[in-house]
Amino acid sequence: PSHVTWGGRFSAGPAELMLTFSESVSFDRRLAPFDIQGSKAHSAMLAHVGIITTKERDAIHRGLDVILGEIEAGKFVWDKKLEDVHMNIEQALTQRVPAAARLHTARSRNDQVATDMRLFFKYACAALGEKIVLAQRAILKLAEDNQDVLIPGYTHLQRAQPVWLAHHLFAYLEMLERDRERLKAVADHANWCPLGAGAIAGTTLPIDREFTAVQLGFVDAKGKPRVTQNSMDTVADRDTFIEFAHACALFGVHASRIAEDLILWSSAEFKFIELPDTFCTGSSLMPQKKNPDSCELLRGKSARLQGNLHTLLTLTKGLPLTYNRDLQEDKPPVFDSFEQTGLCAEVLAGTFTGAEMIRNRCAEAVADPGLLATDMADYLVEKGVPFREAHHAVGAVVRIAEKLTVKLNNLPYEEVRSVHKAFGPDWTEVFDLKRAMKKRAGTGMPGPVQIKKQFGRWAKLLK
Ligand code: ARG
Repeated sequence: PSHVTWGGRFSAGPAELMLTFSESVSFDRRLAPFDIQGSKAHSAMLAHVGIITTKERDAIHRGLDVILGEIEAGKFVWDKKLEDVHMNIEQALTQRVPAAARLHTARSRNDQVATDMRLFFKYACAALGEKIVLAQRAILKLAEDNQDVLIPGYTHLQRAQPVWLAHHLFAYLEMLERDRERLKAVADHANWCPLGAGAIAGTTLPIDREFTAVQLGFVDAKGKPRVTQNSMDTVADRDTFIEFAHACALFGVHASRIAEDLILWSSAEFKFIELPDTFCTGSSLMPQKKNPDSCELLRGKSARLQGNLHTLLTLTKGLPLTYNRDLQEDKPPVFDSFEQTGLCAEVLAGTFTGAEMIRNRCAEAVADPGLLATDMADYLVEKGVPFREAHHAVGAVVRIAEKLTVKLNNLPYEEVRSVHKAFGPDWTEVFDLKRAMKKRAGTGMPGPVQIKKQFGRWAKLLK
């Protein structure tokens, strides 16, 4: 028996092995709601231009609604012999509604799958954006609960300068905010209607692509239809897939870097933070262990998200225009990135929600006077010393402190004075942390005035 939808020119159907090899319904069935939405819009357009009657359109719509109900109820029988989600739904419709035989007029699975995926991307970007906000809110909450906590900021993983914990956490909020913006941009790039491109070269029938676009919400800010401009590009283009996977991969990189901080901070060596038991696991051998598994998995998942991006880049790079069946392999990495990114965002939120700062450890670490060596140089600059000279002088003071094994701020005044005459008896005022923070007052700096501003900004942005 030849294949129902395309079997006209065949004398034998596909081998069982070929069916198993080529089916995509096992993973593309999740597109069903978008596929049905697309078919409803397409048939509405066919009726609008008079290719089918309004009666036929209504019968098709009713049939598709019933099928969607069955799918949502888990009662729909998917058949791998019908290859993909598109043909499974069309077949089911054909069995119920005679007019179904007209649904595929002026349409190909090539523009159909492009449409389904663009609808999916618009949905997926919004859904992920909402989950990333949850993580941001959890981070903001930790900052709010620890407004008075100072920690060392690090470069090269060496103590550098003091910052409010909130300032460090706000850096995470910036990274995640860019991820949300990127997802919005991807949704905007997806917002062009492919239907009407047909298999490659449109159709001879008098369709109205703009009508379909409006039906599906492929419109600009003013409500004007957005319709793809080249039928060949439309069925070959997978840019949005790659951009989506990229947005997810970059989010993964951010989540991974945040996770790495938490892993360090929760180690005995730092002990700035206690991670929630609910997102850690124990060792089957060492009874004392509490491992930061959620963070380690966030780091690990980011590799997977990068892999998905790489798969898509490699999949498309050598393909001649236009559609090639290779492109069916574009879906598993996209769906995987969608699911794992959503999970990562939720786990990030959960991990921060239950975390507690260990304030005395943060205070001990930030009490290291070396963190204010740069402030010492700035002190000299304020007395008229050129910065390079000041930097050199403070370096010499640090070396003396190390040699005498005393803390920088405990050096006798004469020692400091011997290095540079510009050091006055007030030189130790530099080591007043509160004062040091207050002086960092410019935009983007960790001083209290700016921190207050940022608390206000984030409260508003994450409402
Ligand atoms: N399942 C196919 C895919 O995901 C749909 C498009 C099939 N088109 C074709 N000419 N065989 O790519």
